[in-house]
Amino acid sequence: LPLQNPLAAELVQAVISEKVGIIVTAAGNPATYTRKLKEAGITVFHVIASVKHAIGAEKHGVDGVIAEGYEAGGHNGLDELPTFVLVPQVADAVKIPVVAAGGIADARGVVAALALGADGVQMGTRFVATTECIAHPHFKEAVVKADDTSTVITGRKIGPTRILKNPVAAKILEMEANGASAEELISYIGLENRSRAGELEGDMITGEAYCGAVAGIINQVQNVSEVIRSIVDNFDKVVATLK
Ligand SMILES: Cc1cc2nc3c(=O)[nH]c(=O)nc-3n(C[C@H](O)[C@H](O)[C@H](O)COP(=O)(O)O)c2cc1C
Repeated sequence: LPLQNPLAAELVQAVISEKVGIIVTAAGNPATYTRKLKEAGITVFHVIASVKHAIGAEKHGVDGVIAEGYEAGGHNGLDELPTFVLVPQVADAVKIPVVAAGGIADARGVVAALALGADGVQMGTRFVATTECIAHPHFKEAVVKADDTSTVITGRKIGPTRILKNPVAAKILEMEANGASAEELISYIGLENRSRAGELEGDMITGEAYCGAVAGIINQVQNVSEVIRSIVDNFDKVVATLK
């Protein structure tokens, strides 16, 4: 639930009326709705990208934080801290559970995240390339084809967002290099419209698609169960290579 969304208050009310058990809040101040959600018996995890925000979220009563590094697909923190340095510092700073996100797509990533002090992981880009995901097949195909340099951070002036490189990404970067204003960038990107075109309608030329840098290690579209099974099956093997 993006807390800066103009419909946040209505969404919170809907979550409470529908008796949703657990909710992830992001992009906004956890002070606003955490107490209300907790009073309704809902477990609240909040996405953060810095130690300061993790401590703030803990203070406002969230049950856990999702520490998301700037490898992650989609919106990123302003300080662009990578998962590898963010997670251990957050784990040291708070007592509540820490979920690591950004750059994790297989058992190696899960083992690394736990070694860094995380209690669990959140994966986004890996699940785009699953049969169950509502992403357009063109988007899934692009994730599978992507290599280590296929994504880029755009929109630093209006909110850093990691997307697949394509003509839209190139245009945004060019506008930024030429000093475009926030209004000009927002007007070109059209906020939700280009994401919808890229991610759900499969227009990989004039649409944009949120995608993590980890796409380079995702080589096939799989069922969600295959993704999870592979992580569970390989977890001990990865740990064994460390001994
Ligand atoms: C296509 C896509 C859409 C996403 N949409 C949201 C969103 O609406 N809200 C949110 O908090 N995070 C969103 N994320 C971020 C994920 O929840 C997750 O934290 C992130 O993908 C983890 O990094 P990874 O992409 O390296 O796995 C999105 C990620 C992707 C790839």
